[in-house]
Amino acid sequence: MTNLAEKLKLGTQQSHSNAEHTGFMKNFLSGGVSRDSFCQLLSNLYFVYSQLESELQCHQTHPIISKIYCPELNRKANLEKDLTFYYGEHWPDNITPSPAAQAYVSRLRELSATEPVLLIAHAYTRYMGDLSGGQSLKKIAQSIFHLEEHQGICFYEFDEIPDVNEFKNQYRQKLNELILSEDLQDEIVAEANNAFTLNIAMLKDLGETQTPVTV
Ligand code: HEM
Repeated sequence: MTNLAEKLKLGTQQSHSNAEHTGFMKNFLSGGVSRDSFCQLLSNLYFVYSQLESELQCHQTHPIISKIYCPELNRKANLEKDLTFYYGEHWPDNITPSPAAQAYVSRLRELSATEPVLLIAHAYTRYMGDLSGGQSLKKIAQSIFHLEEHQGICFYEFDEIPDVNEFKNQYRQKLNELILSEDLQDEIVAEANNAFTLNIAMLKDLGETQTPVTV
């Protein structure tokens, strides 16, 4: 047993605080985010999760990744539902990844080819975030965009996970049970900080690159 879960939480505390304090997240929490920016976020996340989930699937039999591979976390299909809701059935023609989303996708591709075990850091950063703060963001989005149940917020819904807190505890347990050298654990924490940096860059350039939503 390691204490990788605790190392990740503590080792990314500053990065988490930086992410919470981006203009976009502050706006979101105060109910001031525009529908356009929210749709741009979902569009960028679509490219990120498509890559992340395809790379994790590629490595699902990897001796270490297999222990933490949880397809019930997958977000791609739910993002597709949200993008259909906001942009209509031709949503693929209306979304492009921002430069920051492209950089994020490139990093995932690079890790998959060179050091796939570090994809664990990316899975941790995104999915634990979605299961944590994401659950509050869901309620805020519903309220500011006057959305009905399940409309446009499928991204934050985990139908295959009935108890989010219990799942998070099990996920932490799985992280702690991975057999990893101290050096590799440190590398995973460093990559999780990099994942936060890539997310922060993506939040910062929202609003500059995409087609406005007209529905
Ligand atoms: C306004 C924005 C955010 C809020 C309000 C927020 C809030 C929270 C809260 C309350 C927790 C603790 C939950 C718990 O211990 O069960 C948490 C955990 C977490 N958040 Fe966020 N968060 C935000 C943004 C982000 C972003 C942008 C990311 C990364 C992309 C992120 C990644 C994480 C991760 C990885 C954890 C798990 C920490 C751990 O237990 O190891 N969060 N968040």
